[in-house]
Amino acid sequence: MKETVLRKLKNNREEFISGEELSEKFKVSRTTIWKIIKKLREEGYIIKSSTKKGYKLLEDPDLLTEMEISEYLFTKKMGKNIIYFLEVESTNDEMKKNLQEEEGTILVTENQILGKGRLGREWFSSDKKGIYFSLLLKPKIDPLEAIKITQIAASSLVEVLRKNNVEAYIKWPNDIILNNKKVAGILVEMTTEIMKIENIILGVGINVNTLSEDIPESLKEKATSLLIETGLKWNRKKLIGEFITEFEKEYFSCIENKNDKEIVSNCKKYSNIIGKKIKIIRGDISREVDVIDINSEGFLLVKNEMGEEEEILSGEISIRGLEGYI
Ligand code: BTN
Repeated sequence: MKETVLRKLKNNREEFISGEELSEKFKVSRTTIWKIIKKLREEGYIIKSSTKKGYKLLEDPDLLTEMEISEYLFTKKMGKNIIYFLEVESTNDEMKKNLQEEEGTILVTENQILGKGRLGREWFSSDKKGIYFSLLLKPKIDPLEAIKITQIAASSLVEVLRKNNVEAYIKWPNDIILNNKKVAGILVEMTTEIMKIENIILGVGINVNTLSEDIPESLKEKATSLLIETGLKWNRKKLIGEFITEFEKEYFSCIENKNDKEIVSNCKKYSNIIGKKIKIIRGDISREVDVIDINSEGFLLVKNEMGEEEEILSGEISIRGLEGYI
């Protein structure tokens, strides 16, 4: 009922709607309507009321609830089911408890207290300032092709950021880089049956309106946010909506129509390591290689210390520029 009343207020922003009209339309008492308005105000909606004219919605809260995000989603499947939390440990871990949900389900939160990064690292979150969500996918692909999902996400995110005038790059395989610092990260986890992927959890974290003082000292050299780099406060709802809409387009094209040309081309075009010398770190061992290309399977092609070409799979490696983070 709360959602229905809110929808009505959202669709009539220009004018007041009387309590009487709302109560008649939704067949509930005026006291119930008043209680709903009170609840919405507690959630951050600014609703003007006038004894004569009724209620008028003036402002929506900066929250990533289903009601708020869905206005910006132009998709067939992704985000048709949205699970929202004010806070969770990690959206990827929370999604693991929800694998029975349909493909395209999004689990989104305002804050994570145990956000996870790749290679067992932590992912730092900043309450109501970033975008942290997991998307449930059920593609019928070989587990070896799972890197494609990371690439589709990276390609979509860079595409959307560039449409918003942000010159972002992809640091293969899963970091999104802005002015040489990390602004977003992608973590793909899967549960598999032999030769058939059951569930893929695509976790995306974007530092959006995070302030410099929110970033832990130990990460300051490597991490940044859209606000820090552009000086602008971003609309998180619009950004997540644009990302999921673009992701669905690229996902359908790549996974269902087997056309990955745009994705591979974006990952190459926006790569910040092709043509560079990098350090590949695997456990305690660090090697210097030249990056030649990203191949059609999404693997990194490098020339190693012996001058031989080598294919690097995304698995257990970390990449650094020779002079530190890239
Ligand atoms: C990385 O850069 O190593 C990947 C970072 C991924 C962070 C996101 S935030 C939402 C989702 N839930 C998590 O615990 N991690 C991912």
